[in-house]
Amino acid sequence: MEIAKTIKKLKAVLDAARKEGKTVGLVPTMGALHEGHASLVRRSVKENGFTVVSDFVNPTQFNDKTDLKNYPHTMEADCALLESIGADVVFAPSVKEMYPEPDTRQFSYPPTDTVMEGAFRPGHFNGVCQIVSKLFYAVEPDRAYFGEKDFQQVAVIKAMVKDLGLKLEICPCPIVREKDGLALSSRNALLTDEERKIAVNISKYLFESKVLMSSHSLAETKAFVVDNINAVEGLEVQYYDIVDGDSLRSLSEWNDSDSVVGCITVFCGQRPVRLIDNVRYK
Ligand code: PAF
Repeated sequence: MEIAKTIKKLKAVLDAARKEGKTVGLVPTMGALHEGHASLVRRSVKENGFTVVSDFVNPTQFNDKTDLKNYPHTMEADCALLESIGADVVFAPSVKEMYPEPDTRQFSYPPTDTVMEGAFRPGHFNGVCQIVSKLFYAVEPDRAYFGEKDFQQVAVIKAMVKDLGLKLEICPCPIVREKDGLALSSRNALLTDEERKIAVNISKYLFESKVLMSSHSLAETKAFVVDNINAVEGLEVQYYDIVDGDSLRSLSEWNDSDSVVGCITVFCGQRPVRLIDNVRYK
């Protein structure tokens, strides 16, 4: 497995792979890898002749500087994991390499990028579009793999790919969960043992709400999730919305769309750690 720190080196490695007729899969990450990332990489390795994993904590998508400072870094362990599951190259550039000049581009795909995370983290999706488009231009992948835990991110990236007319396939991959249901996240590493124990209530009430759906209105189901999670000491819901799975517009009735997803963000514990999750109703 190669490690490329510059776009020039990355392109040289990719040119050689393409000369051998290999298709290229890209898995963009910010490092601190876990089984969720590993599942994306395994799928890319299966579906492509050559897999690039980018490992770059992108400063432009952090609207909260403390969050950026606290973001976990585990580069050595990341490389060992990636090598063991067959990634071909890790692209680990410096901030200067990706942003030799400030990126002034503005991306806007309302309502997809303005609701939920878009409303609570101003500028976040603009930063995601800046870095992901730069990665797409540098790698020119045939396919790119993203986890559905960041459901809204996948929708925004699909909108960007359409807008920029890029020719690649976006491959969303299912959420990987701990045995008890907690969605895997790099941020889980920041939880204390006590916080880890209560965090399980997020997925618990999301799953329970799926069962309620046949006998409860959308508004009642939403209230069930929010009230039960807020009743757990140490958890506080920032938002829970039930949205159309493509545009992410907020829904009022179950019958308003054929694709219905509930997206939640919860603050957990003292620090607090901000955890996100989602559940598909239909
Ligand atoms: O999902 C993430 O880890 C990041 O938002 C991404 C897609 C790697 C862009 O920095």
